[in-house]
Amino acid sequence: MAVIKVENLKKRFNLEAGFFARFGRFVYAVNGVSFSIGENETYGLVGESGCGKTTTARLLVRMYESDEGSILYHDRIDVRTLKPGELKQYREKVKYVFQDPARSLNPRMTVYDVLTSGYRWSSIWPGEKKARKEAADILEETGLSAADLERRPAEFSGGQRQRISIARGLLMKPDLLICDEIVSALDVSIQGQILNLLLDIRSRHNLSFLFIAHDLKAASYFCDRIGVMYRGELMEEAAAADLYQTARHPYTRLLFSSVAGPAGESVEAREIPAMLQGEIQTPVTELSGCAFAERCPLADERCRREQPPQANVPDGAKAKTGHVFYCWKACIT
Ligand SMILES: Nc1ncnc2c1ncn2[C@@H]1O[C@H](COP(=O)(O)OP(=O)(O)OP(=O)(O)O)[C@@H](O)[C@H]1O
Ligand SMILES: [Mg+2]
Repeated sequence: MAVIKVENLKKRFNLEAGFFARFGRFVYAVNGVSFSIGENETYGLVGESGCGKTTTARLLVRMYESDEGSILYHDRIDVRTLKPGELKQYREKVKYVFQDPARSLNPRMTVYDVLTSGYRWSSIWPGEKKARKEAADILEETGLSAADLERRPAEFSGGQRQRISIARGLLMKPDLLICDEIVSALDVSIQGQILNLLLDIRSRHNLSFLFIAHDLKAASYFCDRIGVMYRGELMEEAAAADLYQTARHPYTRLLFSSVAGPAGESVEAREIPAMLQGEIQTPVTELSGCAFAERCPLADERCRREQPPQANVPDGAKAKTGHVFYCWKACIT
């Protein structure tokens, strides 16, 4: 059963505010994205800056309202139509951990207050005494100590603050934790420690993850499946372990070619070079063809004109988790 299942999700932002808004200039941030995350599964959403990863994640918790599509929680709860009370309960189970702990943790509060601020007003608040014990336990599990509950976020390093954010995300025992670029602001050595902590948490808790990253290295290391996004659309989706070997979409291959070194070197060994981390332009008109066509070496007229349908890679090993791509010119070899 899927914890969350997203179909044909769309979100456009109005480029102009106020009077000019009525002229309707939009940026198409998420443009028909579909994926699902199973129980205990870690799904990675990967792509360059501006491709719509954060917007997608925010649509899932209704920090933004979607324009179109469906979001189903546990196959039956329609997230888009939840009423305020129901939405509050849903957000106790689907937690969002932000990229920048310096900004997302209130510096005036103690760690205990930071951890429990949402919990306290939730339907499952167990009372001060029990909450303090739970907060101490979760803080220890994330590598800090119970005594840290009385300190303030500013007294901690970036990596430690991210541990506090993770502890806050876990405290209410969610079943989906959305981690939006939670390691990208940290030094590489600290990134490894936080990823290991997440692996640890995965093995101990009954928990699914939506792991958002522009770094294929981190995503391949941590995820079960990966969806590759480009300009608001999903290009390809496959098991993380064999996407490198089996990528069909020219864009996935481009991303991988920029991380892989000499033949045989593993994807984990390199990171995406600056060239691919630069700005891509989010469409400001509704695209008719493939979002990647303008940059694709294989694109022809049809690619620019018609959106490619979803296609399946049929082979056995991949059948278990599925391998799909959206491309007219998919690479076969
Ligand atoms: N609140 C907003 N108002 C207007 N445009 C927005 C808003 N949020 C995002 N966008 C635009 O939508 C597009 C997708 O942005 P989004 O933040 O989802 O990308 P991202 O993949 O998370 O990028 P990054 O890797 O830089 O975090 C971008 O063009 C962005 O400028
Ligand atoms: Mg983002």
